[in-house]
Amino acid sequence: MESASIPIGEVASRAGIPASALRFYEAEGLIHSERSSGGQRRFHREILRRLALIRIAQRVGLTLPEIRDALAKLPASRTPTKADWAQLSRSWRPRLDAQIATLERLRDRLTSCIGCGCLSLQACALYNPSDAAATLGTGPRYLLGNDPGDLAERVPEPPRRPRRPRRPRRRGPGRRAPPR
Ligand code: FES
Repeated sequence: MESASIPIGEVASRAGIPASALRFYEAEGLIHSERSSGGQRRFHREILRRLALIRIAQRVGLTLPEIRDALAKLPASRTPTKADWAQLSRSWRPRLDAQIATLERLRDRLTSCIGCGCLSLQACALYNPSDAAATLGTGPRYLLGNDPGDLAERVPEPPRRPRRPRRPRRRGPGRRAPPR
């Protein structure tokens, strides 16, 4: 790796991330520093790109282990090239596409029934009668990717036969009534 040259305070101020968070990221294995002769953390300038990526990835809902796994694929011994970053972006693409689809559904459906079980809108009676969406899982089913058509694909359970009321037992002619 090229020689590390930026002290932690400068990285924090340029990235807009507190030094305490930088130390946390380092403890979590997301970033690495070198130590100066005085024992202070020094970072290579390339760290700013990693930090930007970490910040944005967290904002779109990726977990720290997901981010760590992706960053671990970048070369540690040299500054990542365009091809390295492209590979990382490909590995996140399905996850990001799913996030984008969820946000688009949120944008488009927030004023209509989202299948959350509240049955509070007039539209709910149409799209989610008797909270039928609950059979597809928990949460706002129509934001999470289901739609009312999925209900039709489910095989309905056969209706249960109502239980007959039990008849009172008849006492035989020789039996006495129990003492009171
Ligand atoms: S919005 Fe909650 S069930 Fe329709």
